[in-house]
Amino acid sequence: MFVSEDLSVNSKNHLVIGENDTVELAKEFGTPLYVLDEDLLRKNCRVYRNAIDKYYGGNGLVLYANKAFCTLYTCRVAAEEGLGADVVSGGELYTAIKAGFPMDRIYFHGNNKTAQELEMAVENGVGHIVVDNVYELEMLNEIAAKHGVVQNIMFRIKPGVDAHTHSFIRTGQIDSKFGVALENGEAFEIYERAHKMTNVNPDGLHCHIGSQIFDVEPFCQAAEILMNFAGDLKDKLGLEITKLNLGGGYGIMYTEKDDPVPYDEYIKHVSEVVKRTAEKRGINIPFILMEPGRSIIAPAGITLYTVGGIKDIKNVRKYVSVDGGMGDNPRYILYESEYAAVIANKAGDPADELVTVAGKCCESGDLLLKDAMLQKAEAGDILAVLATGAYNYSMASNYNRIPRPAVVAVSGGKAKVVVKRETYEDIIKNDVL
Ligand code: LLP
Repeated sequence: MFVSEDLSVNSKNHLVIGENDTVELAKEFGTPLYVLDEDLLRKNCRVYRNAIDKYYGGNGLVLYANKAFCTLYTCRVAAEEGLGADVVSGGELYTAIKAGFPMDRIYFHGNNKTAQELEMAVENGVGHIVVDNVYELEMLNEIAAKHGVVQNIMFRIKPGVDAHTHSFIRTGQIDSKFGVALENGEAFEIYERAHKMTNVNPDGLHCHIGSQIFDVEPFCQAAEILMNFAGDLKDKLGLEITKLNLGGGYGIMYTEKDDPVPYDEYIKHVSEVVKRTAEKRGINIPFILMEPGRSIIAPAGITLYTVGGIKDIKNVRKYVSVDGGMGDNPRYILYESEYAAVIANKAGDPADELVTVAGKCCESGDLLLKDAMLQKAEAGDILAVLATGAYNYSMASNYNRIPRPAVVAVSGGKAKVVVKRETYEDIIKNDVL
Protein backbone atom coordinates (compact mmCIF):
# COMPACT_ATOMS: atom_id res chain seq x y z
CA MET A 1 0.00 0.00 0.00
CA PHE A 2 2.83 2.42 0.83
CA VAL A 3 6.11 2.96 -0.99
CA SER A 4 8.07 1.94 2.13
CA GLU A 5 7.70 -1.53 3.58
CA ASP A 6 7.75 -0.44 7.22
CA LEU A 7 4.63 1.71 7.14
CA SER A 8 1.19 0.57 8.23
CA VAL A 9 -2.09 1.88 9.62
CA ASN A 10 -3.23 1.25 13.21
CA SER A 11 -6.70 0.93 14.71
CA LYS A 12 -6.94 4.73 15.11
CA ASN A 13 -6.48 5.07 11.35
CA HIS A 14 -3.06 6.62 11.99
CA LEU A 15 0.10 6.01 9.99
CA VAL A 16 2.63 3.87 11.86
CA ILE A 17 6.38 3.75 11.31
CA GLY A 18 8.55 1.23 13.16
CA GLU A 19 5.70 0.54 15.66
CA ASN A 20 5.34 4.26 16.40
CA ASP A 21 2.14 6.18 15.79
CA THR A 22 3.21 9.14 13.62
CA VAL A 23 0.46 11.39 15.01
CA GLU A 24 1.86 10.82 18.49
CA LEU A 25 5.38 11.49 17.24
CA ALA A 26 4.21 14.81 15.79
CA LYS A 27 2.53 15.67 19.09
CA GLU A 28 5.56 14.78 21.17
CA PHE A 29 8.35 16.24 19.04
CA GLY A 30 6.57 18.89 16.99
CA THR A 31 6.57 19.42 13.22
CA PRO A 32 8.19 19.51 10.78
CA LEU A 33 9.93 16.38 11.92
CA TYR A 34 12.28 13.97 10.22
CA VAL A 35 11.64 10.40 11.38
CA LEU A 36 14.05 7.56 10.67
CA ASP A 37 13.16 3.92 11.13
CA GLU A 38 16.35 2.50 12.59
CA ASP A 39 15.36 -1.12 12.03
CA LEU A 40 14.77 -0.57 8.33
CA LEU A 41 17.98 1.43 8.06
CA ARG A 42 19.93 -1.45 9.58
CA LYS A 43 18.08 -3.98 7.45
CA ASN A 44 19.02 -2.09 4.29
CA CYS A 45 22.67 -2.05 5.34
CA ARG A 46 22.51 -5.82 5.71
CA VAL A 47 20.95 -6.37 2.28
CA TYR A 48 24.13 -4.95 0.75
CA ARG A 49 26.48 -6.71 3.13
CA ASN A 50 24.81 -10.03 2.46
CA ALA A 51 25.08 -9.47 -1.28
CA ILE A 52 28.83 -8.92 -0.96
CA ASP A 53 29.05 -12.19 0.95
CA LYS A 54 26.89 -14.00 -1.56
CA TYR A 55 28.40 -12.80 -4.81
CA TYR A 56 31.98 -11.94 -3.89
CA GLY A 57 32.57 -14.41 -1.06
CA GLY A 58 32.83 -11.51 1.37
CA ASN A 59 35.70 -9.94 -0.57
CA GLY A 60 34.34 -6.42 -0.46
CA LEU A 61 32.99 -3.58 1.62
CA VAL A 62 29.81 -1.54 1.45
CA LEU A 63 30.44 2.16 1.98
CA TYR A 64 27.52 4.19 3.22
CA ALA A 65 27.39 7.41 1.18
CA ASN A 66 27.17 10.06 3.85
CA LYS A 67 26.00 12.78 1.52
CA ALA A 68 22.57 11.15 1.67
CA PHE A 69 22.21 11.82 5.42
CA CYS A 70 25.18 12.49 7.65
CA THR A 71 24.97 12.83 11.43
CA LEU A 72 26.82 11.30 14.36
CA TYR A 73 23.94 8.87 14.65
CA THR A 74 23.97 7.68 11.03
CA CYS A 75 27.76 7.27 11.21
CA ARG A 76 27.40 5.15 14.33
CA VAL A 77 24.71 2.95 12.80
CA ALA A 78 26.80 2.44 9.65
CA ALA A 79 29.86 1.56 11.74
CA GLU A 80 27.86 -0.87 13.88
CA GLU A 81 26.54 -2.55 10.77
CA GLY A 82 30.10 -3.14 9.58
CA LEU A 83 29.92 -0.67 6.72
CA GLY A 84 32.62 1.69 5.53
CA ALA A 85 31.92 5.31 4.69
CA ASP A 86 32.08 7.59 1.70
CA VAL A 87 32.66 11.16 2.85
CA VAL A 88 32.82 14.10 0.51
CA SER A 89 33.90 17.06 2.58
CA GLY A 90 35.81 18.09 5.66
CA GLY A 91 32.46 18.40 7.45
CA GLU A 92 31.40 14.84 6.69
CA LEU A 93 34.86 13.61 7.63
CA TYR A 94 34.75 15.57 10.88
CA THR A 95 31.37 14.01 11.72
CA ALA A 96 32.75 10.53 11.07
CA ILE A 97 35.82 11.23 13.22
CA LYS A 98 33.65 12.53 16.06
CA ALA A 99 31.41 9.46 15.77
CA GLY A 100 34.47 7.25 16.22
CA PHE A 101 34.14 5.77 12.75
CA PRO A 102 37.03 3.41 11.86
CA MET A 103 39.28 5.59 9.71
CA ASP A 104 40.64 2.75 7.59
CA ARG A 105 37.11 2.14 6.29
CA ILE A 106 36.73 5.73 5.03
CA TYR A 107 36.90 6.78 1.39
CA PHE A 108 37.27 10.51 0.92
CA HIS A 109 35.68 11.92 -2.25
CA GLY A 110 35.20 15.33 -3.80
CA ASN A 111 36.09 17.12 -7.01
CA ASN A 112 37.84 20.03 -5.32
CA LYS A 113 39.20 19.01 -1.96
CA THR A 114 41.15 21.77 -0.30
CA ALA A 115 44.66 21.46 1.09
CA GLN A 116 43.19 21.67 4.61
CA GLU A 117 40.75 18.85 3.88
CA LEU A 118 43.52 16.64 2.48
CA GLU A 119 45.72 17.48 5.45
CA MET A 120 42.91 16.51 7.82
CA ALA A 121 42.36 13.22 5.97
CA VAL A 122 46.05 12.26 5.97
CA GLU A 123 46.53 13.28 9.60
CA ASN A 124 43.59 11.16 10.70
CA GLY A 125 44.67 8.14 8.69
CA VAL A 126 41.77 8.00 6.23
CA GLY A 127 41.97 4.65 4.42
CA HIS A 128 41.57 5.86 0.86
CA ILE A 129 41.38 9.16 -0.89
CA VAL A 130 39.47 9.13 -4.15
CA VAL A 131 41.52 11.64 -6.10
CA ASP A 132 39.73 13.69 -8.71
CA ASN A 133 42.41 15.46 -10.73
CA VAL A 134 46.13 16.14 -11.26
CA TYR A 135 46.19 19.27 -9.12
CA GLU A 136 44.84 17.32 -6.18
CA LEU A 137 47.23 14.44 -6.83
CA GLU A 138 50.29 16.70 -6.66
CA MET A 139 49.03 18.41 -3.53
CA LEU A 140 48.24 15.10 -1.82
CA ASN A 141 51.61 13.56 -2.66
CA GLU A 142 53.31 16.53 -0.99
CA ILE A 143 51.08 16.41 2.08
CA ALA A 144 51.61 12.66 2.47
CA ALA A 145 55.38 13.16 2.13
CA LYS A 146 55.29 15.83 4.82
CA HIS A 147 53.56 13.37 7.13
CA GLY A 148 55.90 10.56 6.15
CA VAL A 149 53.15 8.27 4.90
CA VAL A 150 52.18 6.56 1.69
CA GLN A 151 48.53 7.33 1.11
CA ASN A 152 46.30 4.77 -0.60
CA ILE A 153 44.39 6.39 -3.41
CA MET A 154 42.11 5.63 -6.29
CA PHE A 155 41.00 7.95 -9.05
CA ARG A 156 37.48 8.75 -10.00
CA ILE A 157 37.05 7.59 -13.59
CA LYS A 158 34.40 8.73 -16.03
CA PRO A 159 33.73 5.48 -17.83
CA GLY A 160 31.73 7.14 -20.61
CA VAL A 161 28.52 5.39 -19.63
CA ASP A 162 25.23 7.19 -19.95
CA ALA A 163 22.93 6.42 -17.05
CA HIS A 164 19.35 7.35 -17.77
CA THR A 165 18.54 9.66 -14.93
CA HIS A 166 18.04 13.36 -14.23
CA SER A 167 20.80 15.37 -15.93
CA PHE A 168 21.81 16.99 -12.63
CA ILE A 169 22.65 13.62 -11.10
CA ARG A 170 24.24 11.94 -14.14
CA THR A 171 28.01 11.74 -13.80
CA GLY A 172 29.45 8.92 -15.91
CA GLN A 173 29.86 10.87 -19.15
CA ILE A 174 32.90 12.88 -20.31
CA ASP A 175 31.13 16.22 -19.87
CA SER A 176 31.06 16.08 -16.08
CA LYS A 177 32.96 18.02 -13.47
CA PHE A 178 33.86 14.80 -11.65
CA GLY A 179 36.95 12.71 -12.28
CA VAL A 180 39.10 11.88 -15.28
CA ALA A 181 37.92 10.48 -18.58
CA LEU A 182 38.99 7.24 -20.17
CA GLU A 183 38.33 8.04 -23.78
CA ASN A 184 40.82 10.91 -24.07
CA GLY A 185 43.65 9.16 -22.24
CA GLU A 186 43.38 11.39 -19.15
CA ALA A 187 42.74 8.45 -16.86
CA PHE A 188 45.71 6.46 -18.10
CA GLU A 189 48.04 9.47 -17.79
CA ILE A 190 47.03 10.16 -14.20
CA TYR A 191 47.72 6.54 -13.15
CA GLU A 192 51.05 6.65 -14.93
CA ARG A 193 51.94 9.80 -13.05
CA ALA A 194 50.77 8.50 -9.67
CA HIS A 195 52.59 5.20 -10.21
CA LYS A 196 55.88 7.12 -10.26
CA MET A 197 55.15 9.13 -7.12
CA THR A 198 56.67 8.26 -3.79
CA ASN A 199 53.88 9.01 -1.33
CA VAL A 200 50.73 7.75 -2.98
CA ASN A 201 49.71 4.19 -3.73
CA PRO A 202 47.19 4.02 -6.58
CA ASP A 203 45.71 0.62 -5.83
CA GLY A 204 42.11 1.13 -6.91
CA LEU A 205 39.64 2.39 -9.51
CA HIS A 206 36.48 4.28 -8.79
CA CYS A 207 33.45 5.34 -10.77
CA HIS A 208 30.00 6.61 -9.94
CA ILE A 209 27.76 6.90 -12.97
CA GLY A 210 24.85 8.74 -11.41
CA SER A 211 22.02 8.46 -8.95
CA GLN A 212 18.46 7.11 -8.90
CA ILE A 213 19.23 4.65 -11.72
CA PHE A 214 16.78 1.85 -12.50
CA ASP A 215 18.69 -0.18 -15.12
CA VAL A 216 21.26 -2.83 -14.35
CA GLU A 217 22.88 -2.38 -17.75
CA PRO A 218 24.84 0.86 -17.18
CA PHE A 219 26.31 -0.60 -13.96
CA CYS A 220 27.41 -3.71 -15.86
CA GLN A 221 28.91 -1.59 -18.63
CA ALA A 222 30.81 0.55 -16.14
CA ALA A 223 32.13 -2.53 -14.35
CA GLU A 224 33.32 -4.07 -17.59
CA ILE A 225 35.01 -0.86 -18.73
CA LEU A 226 36.79 -0.41 -15.42
CA MET A 227 37.92 -4.03 -15.26
CA ASN A 228 39.32 -3.73 -18.77
CA PHE A 229 41.10 -0.57 -17.72
CA ALA A 230 42.57 -2.48 -14.75
CA GLY A 231 43.83 -5.01 -17.32
CA ASP A 232 45.40 -2.22 -19.37
CA LEU A 233 47.12 -0.74 -16.33
CA LYS A 234 48.61 -4.12 -15.53
CA ASP A 235 49.70 -4.81 -19.10
CA LYS A 236 51.11 -1.38 -19.85
CA LEU A 237 52.37 -0.16 -16.48
CA GLY A 238 52.70 -3.32 -14.44
CA LEU A 239 50.33 -1.63 -11.99
CA GLU A 240 48.06 -3.98 -10.10
CA ILE A 241 44.59 -2.77 -9.20
CA THR A 242 43.39 -4.52 -6.08
CA LYS A 243 40.25 -2.48 -5.36
CA LEU A 244 37.28 -1.68 -7.53
CA ASN A 245 34.79 0.89 -6.27
CA LEU A 246 31.63 0.94 -8.34
CA GLY A 247 29.92 3.87 -6.62
CA GLY A 248 26.27 4.11 -5.65
CA GLY A 249 23.20 5.20 -7.54
CA TYR A 250 20.68 2.38 -7.11
CA GLY A 251 17.19 3.73 -7.68
CA ILE A 252 14.41 3.61 -5.11
CA MET A 253 10.64 3.79 -5.14
CA TYR A 254 9.44 7.31 -4.44
CA THR A 255 6.02 6.82 -6.02
CA GLU A 256 4.12 3.90 -7.51
CA LYS A 257 5.58 4.85 -10.90
CA ASP A 258 9.08 3.81 -9.85
CA ASP A 259 10.07 0.21 -10.33
CA PRO A 260 13.49 -0.46 -8.83
CA VAL A 261 15.40 -3.66 -9.45
CA PRO A 262 16.09 -5.53 -6.19
CA TYR A 263 19.60 -4.52 -5.09
CA ASP A 264 20.69 -8.10 -4.82
CA GLU A 265 19.98 -8.44 -8.55
CA TYR A 266 22.18 -5.51 -9.49
CA ILE A 267 25.03 -6.91 -7.51
CA LYS A 268 24.58 -10.38 -8.92
CA HIS A 269 24.72 -9.15 -12.52
CA VAL A 270 27.63 -6.82 -11.90
CA SER A 271 29.56 -9.57 -10.09
CA GLU A 272 29.19 -11.83 -13.12
CA VAL A 273 30.66 -9.12 -15.34
CA VAL A 274 33.53 -8.51 -12.91
CA LYS A 275 34.42 -12.20 -12.70
CA ARG A 276 34.13 -12.75 -16.45
CA THR A 277 36.28 -9.75 -17.30
CA ALA A 278 38.89 -10.66 -14.68
CA GLU A 279 39.25 -14.05 -16.26
CA LYS A 280 39.39 -12.66 -19.78
CA ARG A 281 42.10 -10.16 -18.84
CA GLY A 282 44.05 -12.50 -16.63
CA ILE A 283 43.75 -10.31 -13.55
CA ASN A 284 42.66 -11.07 -10.01
CA ILE A 285 39.15 -10.23 -8.87
CA PRO A 286 39.64 -7.03 -6.93
CA PHE A 287 38.22 -6.20 -3.51
CA ILE A 288 34.80 -4.76 -4.33
CA LEU A 289 33.41 -1.53 -2.94
CA MET A 290 30.05 0.05 -3.52
CA GLU A 291 28.63 3.28 -2.18
CA PRO A 292 24.87 3.23 -1.81
CA GLY A 293 23.39 6.23 -0.05
CA ARG A 294 19.81 6.80 -1.14
CA SER A 295 18.78 3.15 -1.28
CA ILE A 296 19.99 2.55 2.28
CA ILE A 297 18.44 5.53 3.99
CA ALA A 298 15.71 7.07 1.82
CA PRO A 299 13.07 4.38 2.41
CA ALA A 300 13.75 4.50 6.16
CA GLY A 301 12.79 8.17 6.44
CA ILE A 302 9.56 10.14 6.44
CA THR A 303 8.88 13.79 7.19
CA LEU A 304 5.90 14.90 9.24
CA TYR A 305 4.28 18.31 8.74
CA THR A 306 1.23 20.10 10.06
CA VAL A 307 -1.29 21.26 7.50
CA GLY A 308 -2.13 24.97 7.65
CA GLY A 309 -4.00 27.05 5.12
CA ILE A 310 -5.78 25.40 2.19
CA LYS A 311 -6.58 27.33 -0.97
CA ASP A 312 -9.02 25.85 -3.41
CA ILE A 313 -8.68 28.03 -6.51
CA LYS A 314 -11.74 27.07 -8.54
CA ASN A 315 -10.86 25.38 -11.84
CA VAL A 316 -7.18 25.98 -11.22
CA ARG A 317 -5.63 24.07 -8.33
CA LYS A 318 -6.05 23.19 -4.69
CA TYR A 319 -3.05 24.17 -2.58
CA VAL A 320 -2.48 22.56 0.80
CA SER A 321 0.21 24.43 2.73
CA VAL A 322 2.40 22.84 5.39
CA ASP A 323 4.78 24.17 8.04
CA GLY A 324 7.95 23.08 6.20
CA GLY A 325 8.97 22.96 2.55
CA MET A 326 12.08 23.59 0.47
CA GLY A 327 14.11 24.37 3.59
CA ASP A 328 13.81 20.77 4.80
CA ASN A 329 13.25 19.17 1.38
CA PRO A 330 14.70 21.07 -1.59
CA ARG A 331 14.33 18.17 -4.02
CA TYR A 332 11.21 19.44 -5.77
CA ILE A 333 12.65 22.86 -6.40
CA LEU A 334 15.94 21.32 -7.60
CA TYR A 335 14.76 18.32 -9.61
CA GLU A 336 10.96 18.47 -9.67
CA SER A 337 11.19 15.20 -7.82
CA GLU A 338 8.03 13.30 -6.95
CA TYR A 339 7.00 11.92 -3.59
CA ALA A 340 4.11 9.98 -2.13
CA ALA A 341 2.35 11.38 0.92
CA VAL A 342 -0.36 10.40 3.37
CA ILE A 343 -2.48 12.36 5.81
CA ALA A 344 -1.13 10.55 8.85
CA ASN A 345 -4.27 10.95 10.99
CA LYS A 346 -6.49 9.61 8.16
CA ALA A 347 -4.04 7.11 6.75
CA GLY A 348 -6.56 4.42 5.85
CA ASP A 349 -9.00 6.79 4.10
CA PRO A 350 -9.15 6.81 0.33
CA ALA A 351 -6.75 9.24 -1.34
CA ASP A 352 -9.35 10.85 -3.56
CA GLU A 353 -8.41 14.53 -3.63
CA LEU A 354 -6.08 16.01 -6.20
CA VAL A 355 -3.90 18.59 -4.45
CA THR A 356 -0.60 20.40 -4.61
CA VAL A 357 1.29 20.55 -1.33
CA ALA A 358 3.14 23.82 -0.84
CA GLY A 359 5.82 24.80 1.63
CA LYS A 360 5.97 28.02 3.62
CA CYS A 361 8.96 29.66 1.89
CA CYS A 362 8.69 32.83 -0.07
CA GLU A 363 9.22 31.07 -3.38
CA SER A 364 6.56 29.90 -5.85
CA GLY A 365 8.52 26.73 -6.64
CA ASP A 366 8.50 25.75 -2.98
CA LEU A 367 6.34 22.66 -3.41
CA LEU A 368 6.59 19.21 -1.90
CA LEU A 369 4.07 17.48 -4.15
CA LYS A 370 2.51 18.67 -7.34
CA ASP A 371 -0.85 17.25 -8.45
CA ALA A 372 -0.87 14.34 -6.05
CA MET A 373 -3.77 12.29 -4.76
CA LEU A 374 -4.29 12.68 -1.02
CA GLN A 375 -6.87 12.02 1.68
CA LYS A 376 -9.08 15.05 2.30
CA ALA A 377 -6.82 17.57 4.03
CA GLU A 378 -7.91 19.98 6.76
CA ALA A 379 -5.98 22.48 8.84
CA GLY A 380 -4.29 20.74 11.76
CA ASP A 381 -3.88 17.41 9.96
CA ILE A 382 -0.48 15.74 10.02
CA LEU A 383 0.98 15.16 6.59
CA ALA A 384 3.62 12.47 6.14
CA VAL A 385 5.82 12.69 3.08
CA LEU A 386 7.39 9.29 2.45
CA ALA A 387 10.87 8.09 1.51
CA THR A 388 12.50 11.36 2.54
CA GLY A 389 15.46 9.75 4.29
CA ALA A 390 18.00 10.70 1.63
CA TYR A 391 19.04 14.16 0.46
CA ASN A 392 16.46 15.97 2.58
CA TYR A 393 18.10 16.60 5.96
CA SER A 394 21.50 16.63 4.24
CA MET A 395 20.44 19.31 1.76
CA ALA A 396 18.33 21.33 4.19
CA SER A 397 18.88 25.07 4.52
CA ASN A 398 17.78 27.95 6.69
CA TYR A 399 16.21 29.84 3.78
CA ASN A 400 13.85 32.48 5.13
CA ARG A 401 15.60 31.89 8.47
CA ILE A 402 13.48 28.86 9.16
CA PRO A 403 15.13 26.56 11.74
CA ARG A 404 15.87 23.02 10.59
CA PRO A 405 13.62 20.26 12.00
CA ALA A 406 14.67 17.70 14.59
CA VAL A 407 15.53 14.15 13.60
CA VAL A 408 13.95 11.35 15.58
CA ALA A 409 14.99 7.71 15.24
CA VAL A 410 12.37 5.08 16.00
CA SER A 411 12.74 1.40 16.77
CA GLY A 412 10.52 -1.15 18.46
CA GLY A 413 7.91 1.40 19.55
CA LYS A 414 10.52 3.75 21.04
CA ALA A 415 11.60 7.12 19.71
CA LYS A 416 14.76 9.09 20.44
CA VAL A 417 15.89 12.52 19.28
CA VAL A 418 19.16 12.13 17.39
CA VAL A 419 19.38 15.71 16.13
CA LYS A 420 17.79 18.57 18.05
CA ARG A 421 15.43 21.01 16.40
CA GLU A 422 17.17 24.27 15.63
CA THR A 423 16.04 27.33 17.53
CA TYR A 424 15.88 30.98 16.51
CA GLU A 425 18.98 31.46 18.68
CA ASP A 426 20.78 28.89 16.47
CA ILE A 427 19.76 30.93 13.47
CA ILE A 428 21.57 34.04 14.70
CA LYS A 429 24.43 32.38 16.56
CA ASN A 430 27.08 33.29 13.98
CA ASP A 431 25.84 36.83 13.38
CA VAL A 432 28.48 38.95 15.06
CA LEU A 433 27.50 42.51 14.27
N1 LLP B 1 29.25 7.75 -4.49
C1 LLP B 1 29.52 8.91 -5.11
C2 LLP B 1 30.86 9.19 -5.55
C3 LLP B 1 28.49 9.83 -5.30
O1 LLP B 1 28.76 10.97 -5.92
C4 LLP B 1 27.18 9.54 -4.84
C5 LLP B 1 26.09 10.50 -5.01
C6 LLP B 1 26.96 8.33 -4.18
C7 LLP B 1 28.03 7.44 -4.04
C8 LLP B 1 25.63 7.93 -3.61
O2 LLP B 1 24.65 7.81 -4.58
P1 LLP B 1 23.20 7.22 -4.20
O3 LLP B 1 23.37 5.75 -3.93
O4 LLP B 1 22.73 7.96 -3.03
O5 LLP B 1 22.38 7.49 -5.41
N2 LLP B 1 21.13 15.35 -4.33
C9 LLP B 1 20.73 14.37 -5.32
C10 LLP B 1 21.64 13.19 -5.37
C11 LLP B 1 23.08 13.56 -5.61
C12 LLP B 1 23.96 12.35 -5.58
C13 LLP B 1 25.38 12.73 -5.58
N3 LLP B 1 26.28 11.66 -5.50
C14 LLP B 1 19.28 13.96 -5.07
O6 LLP B 1 18.67 14.47 -4.13
O7 LLP B 1 18.72 13.16 -5.82
